[in-house]
Formats: sequence, structure tokens, C-alpha cells
Amino acid sequence: MSRRLLVTGGAGFIGSNFVQHWCQNYPEDRVVVLDALTYAGNRSNLATLEGKENFRFVEGDICDRAIVDELLASEKIDTIAHFAAESHVDRSILGPSAFVQTNVVGTLNLLEAFRQHWVNNSYPDSYRFLHVSTDEVYGSLAPEDPAFSETTPYAPNSPYSASKAGSDHLVRAYFHTYSLPTMITNCSNNYGPYQFPEKLIPLMCINTLMGKQLPVYGDGKNVRDWLYVGDHCTALDVVIHRGTPGETYNIGGNNEVENINLVQMLCQLMDELATDLPVRPSNQLITFVKDRLGHDRRYAINATKMKTQLDWSPSVTIEQGLRLTVAWYLSHQDWWQPLLSEEYQAYYNQVYTQTAS
Ligand code: NAD
Ligand code: DAU
Repeated sequence: MSRRLLVTGGAGFIGSNFVQHWCQNYPEDRVVVLDALTYAGNRSNLATLEGKENFRFVEGDICDRAIVDELLASEKIDTIAHFAAESHVDRSILGPSAFVQTNVVGTLNLLEAFRQHWVNNSYPDSYRFLHVSTDEVYGSLAPEDPAFSETTPYAPNSPYSASKAGSDHLVRAYFHTYSLPTMITNCSNNYGPYQFPEKLIPLMCINTLMGKQLPVYGDGKNVRDWLYVGDHCTALDVVIHRGTPGETYNIGGNNEVENINLVQMLCQLMDELATDLPVRPSNQLITFVKDRLGHDRRYAINATKMKTQLDWSPSVTIEQGLRLTVAWYLSHQDWWQPLLSEEYQAYYNQVYTQTAS
């Protein structure tokens, strides 16, 4: 069966990787991207698809009910893949309101619009609403705790994760109350091409190239479970095609690494792959800075359900994924350089002046 997708946030990091994955693998499907092009959205991420018949880009806000209603009806959408969000924890600490607006109110708006569309079309079985969420809703793990599973209680600690938890609860409630065919995925830290410079891995690559300090929060022993974005896209693909409405799926990379070790690995790769580094070896640039407020200590995902029920597991090791990612940032300076705008510098100064030890 061919599908007609509305991909919200499709000009962002994961959304644009997903749209490219989908268009390459399912050329008979229709893909409509709805993206507000916030600081994190970048239409050039989708440049290779512009002009293709089965692809359309629409600039707009998921909170705008009229745009969403119009697109669902005119494009005969049967599947929403919902990525649009404010996604950066440090920005949520500086200003939580935008997170509640987009992540909670925006998700509610999409759910209401999709429910009406589903009713108008007599409740088709094939409709799907995939809500892309995060492992951060489960809170923080101690070193010996078991990894998060789908039944781990919610305990969000940052304004970002609290807003994502709120949206997850709404999505769950729309299945329970209205039988709307929703599914939720909770995923660990992604990395790979097209990630905005504010996130740990691109920030370290870019700062190394510029000879700037590599700011590691706190003692550097916080643990994240890294997932290559291409593996995340294949996971979302199987959830859309074979997932069960009403279910939640945890998606992770089986790659738990302490931040300081990850940064050391990045420095080694930069030393090996970059030709003209201002400072070499680049790990001399590592600087421990004041910790992020409320910094979660450890995330880890138990992805057994994805393996046993949907036959998915990650295929890219952290060594392979980091090498691909560093090589991509080295060969795409024209992509990230314009993103280091005045607005970005102001944000950067605010976070890293506050966190300077
Ligand atoms: P991102 O910040 O790179 O991209 C977000 C996109 O959403 C941007 O293109 C932006 O323009 C768009 N957007 C923001 N507000 C909007 C609005 N009101 N209306 C329409 N579009 C809007 O984010 P990402 O890292 O690609 O994350 C995508 C999704 O995956 C998010 O929901 C995030 O919570 C979730 N997630 C991310 C990670 C990760 O490691 N990056 C891990 C787990 C889950
Ligand atoms: O776990 C999934 C989440 O991963 C997603 O839901 C979020 O959208 C995504 O941003 C990411 O959140 P994190 O806060 O884990 O990612 P970030 O890249 O900001 O930071 C990763 C770790 O590195 C975290 O422990 C904080 C630390 N860090 C980050 C930055 C930007 C530093 O030590 N220094 C830094 O400069």
C-alpha cells in the first residue's frame, strides 16, 4: 500500500534524514513537509528533493490549525510523522515557553486536526499518527539501574523533557479516548549529518576546526546512549509500516558512552581526518565548564521490544557512526558555517558564559 505522509519538522536534523530515507525507499509515496523554519530548520537540508513530483515543502507552524486542516484534506494525508519540536535542553532552560507552545500545544493541534480528518474519512484502518519522542521523558538513571523500557514511569527533569512528556500523554490519550491510531517512539541521542551546531557532537567538531575550547559540562561522566540517525530512520520506517496503534516503542543505539570519552574519540578522529587544525592534538582544547542545570546523569534504552516485535536493531557502531559524522562535518563546512549566525553567537555566549567555570 502506498502512503501519503505529512512530516512535521522535516527540515530539521532527524526529520530531514527521515524524509530523504523515505523518498529514496518509497518513491511511489507522497511526502509533504510542514516546517516553520525556526533557527533549527533549514530548507537546504532537503535540496536534493526540491522539484521532485512526490515531494512538497510547506513553510508553516504546527500550531496553525487552518494550515494543518488544509494540508490533511487537499493532500489526502493518511500518515503523520511528527518530528516538529523545540529540541535543545539548554534552550529550554533559558526559555521554556516556546517548548510548551510547540511541543504541547502544537502536538494537541495536530492530534485534533488529524482526528477530525480521520472522522471525515470514515475512520480508515490504515491511518497512522507517529509521534517521535525522547528517552528524556523517563528521567535520569543511576549507574547500575536497568535501561529504560516502555514501562518505565515518566519522570522528566528539564522543561524540554517535561514538554515532550506532556505531548506523549496527549498522544496516548487520543488512542485511549478516541481510538485514533497513534504510536509513540522514545529514542536515545541521535547523531549524524545535518545536526544543528548547538548539539554536543557537531559543537565539538566545529569548535575543534575553529581552535575554540571544547566545553564539557560538569565532570564529563554523564552517559548518553548514541544512535546513528540512519538507524533511527529505519526504526521509524518499520514502526510506521508494522507497528501497532496504541503502542510505544523504545529506540536506542546500544552505545552508552560517557561524554568525556565521546569527546576524546571525536578529538582523535579530528586529528586523523582534518588536515589543517589550529590546535593539534585537539584534546588540548577540552575544558571542563560549569554543569548544565538539572543535568540528567545517565540515559540508556532497552530496545528489546523493537527487536522481538518488529525485527529492528541498530546496525551502525559508535566507531563507524562517529567516523561518518566527523567526515560529513569536515566536507560540509558550507552547510554549517552560515548557521553560526549572530543569533547563534548570542545564544552561545549566553550558555557558555553562564557555564564557564
Ligand atoms: P531539530 O531541532 O533539529 O528540528 C526541529 C524542526 O522542527 C526544525 O526544522 C524546526 O524548524 C521545526 N519546528 C520547530 N517548531 C515548529 C513549529 N511550531 N511548527 C513547525 N515546525 C517547527 O530537532 P531534531 O533533533 O531533528 O528532533 C526531531 C524530533 O525528535 C523532536 O521531536 C525531538 O524531541 C525528537 N528527538 C530528538 C533526539 C535527538 O537526539 N536529536 C532524540 C530523541 C527524540
Ligand atoms: O536523549 C535524547 C535527547 O538527546 C533528545 O531528546 C534531545 O532533543 C537532544 O538534544 C539530546 O539531548 P541531550 O541534552 O542529551 O543532548 P546534547 O547534545 O545537548 O548533550 C549531550 C550531552 O553532552 C549531555 O550530557 C550534555 C553534554 N554537553 C552538551 C553540550 C552542548 C556538554 O558537556 N557540553 C556541551 O557543550
